[in-house]
Amino acid sequence: MRAFAYLDHNATSPLRPAAFDAMVAALRAAGNPSSVHRSGRKARGIVDAARRQVAALAGALPSEIVFTSGGTEANNMAIGGSGRRRVLVSAVEHDSVLRAAPEAEVIPVDAEGVVDLGALERLLAASNEPALVSVMFANNETGVLQPIADVVRLARQAGALVHCDAVQGAGKAPVDLHGLGVDYLSLSAHKFGGPTGIGALVVGNGAPFASDRLGGGQEFNRRAGTENVAGIAGFAAAAAAAQDGLAVDRLRERLEASLLAIAPAARVFGAGARRLGNTTCISMPGVKAETQVMALDLAGVCVSAGAACSSGKVQRSAVLSAMGIEDAEAATAIRISCGWDTDSDDIERLIAAWRDLYIRVTHSDIMRARAA
Ligand SMILES: Cc1ncc(COP(=O)(O)O)c(C=O)c1O
Repeated sequence: MRAFAYLDHNATSPLRPAAFDAMVAALRAAGNPSSVHRSGRKARGIVDAARRQVAALAGALPSEIVFTSGGTEANNMAIGGSGRRRVLVSAVEHDSVLRAAPEAEVIPVDAEGVVDLGALERLLAASNEPALVSVMFANNETGVLQPIADVVRLARQAGALVHCDAVQGAGKAPVDLHGLGVDYLSLSAHKFGGPTGIGALVVGNGAPFASDRLGGGQEFNRRAGTENVAGIAGFAAAAAAAQDGLAVDRLRERLEASLLAIAPAARVFGAGARRLGNTTCISMPGVKAETQVMALDLAGVCVSAGAACSSGKVQRSAVLSAMGIEDAEAATAIRISCGWDTDSDDIERLIAAWRDLYIRVTHSDIMRARAA
């Protein structure tokens, strides 16, 4: 049995062995991909091969891949680089989209966290100004999948461009830039077993894109700066491994059925929508998320308390709030996210620890009530 069960893959997924090996090999090769000598050519070869691999993961052409420092930079670049001043974003986007477009018009979501297509249509019709619509592929807190093909259809009718933040989708579910018909797609390696600090913005052929990075002409003049060769190599190796697919859906069914049997008043958020197979956002009635995270950690299980910000403090979840969930209930929601190395032992460990905590809390409530 492992020392602990890591069930926080949506925060970051442990580095896959194949990614580690590819990074070590790339670090040994050294060289600047822009140099013409053998060392530079070797580094260029690594970057070119990786570009093909990442393109395959995203259903894109290698020439459409722009390597970035991760999902945040890719999202910022898509919003800023599209040239569209009018931006429409869904209410459940990641902060790297929301904060890049502070003036954006917000598309509401329904109680399951799915974008309201009627509202999108009305917003698009309200102005003739060409827009950029940004809707994520899958939500980081709930795993809810958005109807991207429908978003694209409505956007096209109104002459709008579409950006899709696929940071939580890629490597966990099939993502296909051309199949979806979006103009920009954001990817991040560390969400599916690649290293942190590397990602890509996929700029669809023909989509307008103006870079604000000034410097050398790297990435076809779309993102200046010497390439992170080792990171890129690790990204590609993780992408290749991820394309073999994730078989975690069955684990999630077992997990959710068990947790709901322990605490029938618990709620799985977004349960009525199409979701990623790896993500469960669930409440434990009356028990604060921070308490659950700490108790589970003590029992050797790592999960997350919904929306944790960079300081590690737990904030009110804007995603659950957009779904109409009361603050008191949202404050009891934790996120359990599986990944490439999750096995049934991890799930059993979580279920046992969650059950222990629930029994402890309900037992002490009963004792308190008796004493009163
Ligand atoms: C949906 C989504 N978009 C973007 C990001 C940012 O990605 P990165 O950590 O690579 O900057 C995250 C990270 O949590 C995310 O979940």
